[in-house]
Amino acid sequence: MVSRIIQVSTFDLIVFGATGDLARRKIFPALFNRLAAGQMPADALVICVARKEMALDNFKSFVKEAVLLYSEIPSQKKDSIEKFLGCFKYISLDVESDKNWNKIRDLLRVDSVRAFYLSVAPRLFNEIASRISTMGLSTDLSRIVVEKPLGVDEKSAKDLNLTLGKYFKEKQIYRIDHYLGKETVQNLMALRFSNVLFEPLWNSKFVDHVQITVAEKIGVLGRGAYYNKSGALRDMVQNHIMQLLCLTAMEPPAKFSPDLVRDEKLKVIKSLGLVKKSEIVKGQYWESSKKNYFTDVGDETSLVESYVALKVSVNNLRWAGTPFYLRTGKKMRSQLSEIAVVFKELPHSIFEDKKAKTQNELIIRLQPNDGITLKTNIKDPGPGGMRITSVPLDMTFADALSKNKHGSPDAYERLIMDVIRGNQTLFMRGDEVEEAWRWIDKVREVWNSTDNNPERYVSYSAGPRKADRLLSSDGRSWRVI
Ligand code: BG6
Repeated sequence: MVSRIIQVSTFDLIVFGATGDLARRKIFPALFNRLAAGQMPADALVICVARKEMALDNFKSFVKEAVLLYSEIPSQKKDSIEKFLGCFKYISLDVESDKNWNKIRDLLRVDSVRAFYLSVAPRLFNEIASRISTMGLSTDLSRIVVEKPLGVDEKSAKDLNLTLGKYFKEKQIYRIDHYLGKETVQNLMALRFSNVLFEPLWNSKFVDHVQITVAEKIGVLGRGAYYNKSGALRDMVQNHIMQLLCLTAMEPPAKFSPDLVRDEKLKVIKSLGLVKKSEIVKGQYWESSKKNYFTDVGDETSLVESYVALKVSVNNLRWAGTPFYLRTGKKMRSQLSEIAVVFKELPHSIFEDKKAKTQNELIIRLQPNDGITLKTNIKDPGPGGMRITSVPLDMTFADALSKNKHGSPDAYERLIMDVIRGNQTLFMRGDEVEEAWRWIDKVREVWNSTDNNPERYVSYSAGPRKADRLLSSDGRSWRVI
């Protein structure tokens, strides 16, 4: 199956923080892939802004290096690099001063879409948004792109929304959660809402429970200072896992349009029940006294979690009685992100093989090998009676859709093109972010009010033992990671 590529209209993309890690690892490689695929026009303008003084040629070398390193492109497309670099301009300025903003203004084209991508620390969002406005850079065709952390609690999220709202209308604000750009996450909606098979079963009558896992093998890497303020709950659950939960649990929107989809997600967040102390597990990884979470973040007394598991209820007619178990952690045994919908046992088995476990499971795999697996029961092949065995019906998207060996496009490719097209469906609306924080704040209140210190777990294991007990006390178990 060959995907159809429709070129977007030409645009001016202004990247603030252009020498930073996000630009280097994600934004530039994503843009390059879209240009090589024919989706980004060669006359698009990428105006890169950073504090550092740099000649344009040096900056282009920096971009080229990033693209060669991080962009998974077939070698025959590498000759597009020069064409790609032709789109770039570089401006050095300090966003906290008024100097040099006129250089950006001089480059901008009157009739093009303008996307201001704030790939900078959130404390600079206000400075930049206000100067875009006061320096007269914004038009009706402008959009502003921001990315997590979008606040650290409900209050700061509200403040941020107010700040952005002073200079941009909600329909111009693109809040990225890169999980929404992942191919399988979008496929979750396609699976649910374009197949007759699943929707009738997608409720507490048939679904025993749901498990959402985002396990990472990496530790906190060089982000110890940030991570030790945030922890797994705020770093991963408030945003990425919350989005996965919403898309799994939401009602079908009347149409696949930005506000209708986001209205349904918001209703899910509003339905989340209060989590009890016994339904929260926190953990910290530990390899040895010389190598552990404390040494990685440089804080021996830290109570911040590198692992969290929660049992969550969605209190509405569809889901009451079906728990959602969420877990995420660093330095886990495998690198794995998935949603597992575990169906109930049949109420009665006609076969003698009573031992057989007949629960069907639908696994939506985000990474690695994005795809979908349906655990189905069949007769154990061969003679020996009617024994029932479970086999996976497996669809790996790369095989099923004969994608090129470079796999699904990176989330940023899809998201940046959606910014240009003006499609907000895969971006978070302000009220959604605030509501997610409001719920996270309540979870934190519960765990702060109790003596709930993180349990140590062995690095590269499946996580704390308490997390196993969270499920075993309900007669269930985590899927093996
Ligand atoms: C980021 C978190 O938002 O997502 C990181 O801050 C995490 O801690 C990353 O490692 C995971 O993203 P992905 O796409 O690699 O699953």
